[in-house]
Amino acid sequence: METIKVGIVGLGRLGKVHGENLAYNIPNCELYAACSPVEEELKFAKEKLGVTNVYTEYSEMVEDKDIQAIFIVSPSGLHCEQIRIAMEHGKHVFSEKPIGLDITEIERTVAVIYSYPKQVFMLGFMRRYDESYQYAKTMLEEGAIGELTVIRSYGIDPKEGLESFVKFAGASNSGGLFADMSIHDIDLIRWFSNQEVKRVWAIGKNTAYPELDALGELETGAAMLQLTDKTIGILVAGRNCYHGYHVETELIGTKGMLRIAQIPEKNLVTIMNEQGIVRPCSQNFPERFKQAFINEEKEFIRCILAGEQPEVNANDGLQSTKVAIACQKSFEENEIMDILY
Ligand SMILES: NC(=O)c1ccc[n+]([C@@H]2O[C@H](COP(=O)([O-])OP(=O)(O)OC[C@H]3O[C@@H](n4cnc5c(N)ncnc54)[C@H](O)[C@@H]3O)[C@@H](O)[C@H]2O)c1
Repeated sequence: METIKVGIVGLGRLGKVHGENLAYNIPNCELYAACSPVEEELKFAKEKLGVTNVYTEYSEMVEDKDIQAIFIVSPSGLHCEQIRIAMEHGKHVFSEKPIGLDITEIERTVAVIYSYPKQVFMLGFMRRYDESYQYAKTMLEEGAIGELTVIRSYGIDPKEGLESFVKFAGASNSGGLFADMSIHDIDLIRWFSNQEVKRVWAIGKNTAYPELDALGELETGAAMLQLTDKTIGILVAGRNCYHGYHVETELIGTKGMLRIAQIPEKNLVTIMNEQGIVRPCSQNFPERFKQAFINEEKEFIRCILAGEQPEVNANDGLQSTKVAIACQKSFEENEIMDILY
């Protein structure tokens, strides 16, 4: 079978994870090129990932005609432009979430994506490729908990990252807590319910680092969502988790409930010692979603080879970002926001 030549842009926290998988763990895939403005990251690509073609300029990497697919793992504010350029150069594109940070630019980008229907486009909502989330989705669709009434979803990052986040918050270009983190929960709510979000009310509090107030960033935020069929969505997002990386989702139906990762278990080990009964927890996203990242990367390559489009598409990127931006605005203005379609 043909091998797909991939060029990756961005080799930071997540880029290194994707890069290693694409280089070593994904069949029919060759990590052929890498782009980063940081010399050390290109050295990493050459020495650790075996990449021979490295670029400091994205515009140069996309000119390489041998590259069939681009993997975008750069800062969120760059995604839209890099997606458009890659599509216009005839590449298949995988982009990390969020698809962008500005709705007008996202709409323009989505139009470009859909104008190249033969090129695969996929967005990095990897939770949909996690075994437990897939199991829950199947149970829900088989009617195991009746009709859906509430979805409650948490995404709380470990406190270890907060100190550096506070330091770099202004420059991080994250789009704020809701676009950066809750976007996964928003996607899950849309995915599980097959509904769009109609109204949101978001609130937040900076307790551990009040200085985040001045930067317009949040340490902890929450939102209440009303979906088109009146299903209730509840989000909590944070950056100050003491026990590890806490991602948990609950579905409440008319005939039962499902909880995914009620305890963010690292493995099946239980420690019994002088502290009592201890369950080790996942400490970060690469650990918790290790297999989900591999599954989504495999799916991207499979779709290219099969000439199919993945389930997670450009519209999912647009709709989830609309909701995230409405949450951010709702928090800033302390008002309920309607989402316009
Ligand atoms: N799916 C997930 O759960 C998940 C987790 C973490 C991050 N992300 C997303 O992945 C993206 C990257 O996040 P990260 O945490 O790895 O960030 P990071 O800051 O650690 O890495 C960003 C990378 O982009 C590179 N870069 C910066 N400017 C560039 C430019 N002009 N051209 C090319 N490359 C450039 C940097 O050198 C670095 O390699 C973000 O959009 C983020 O939202 C997704």
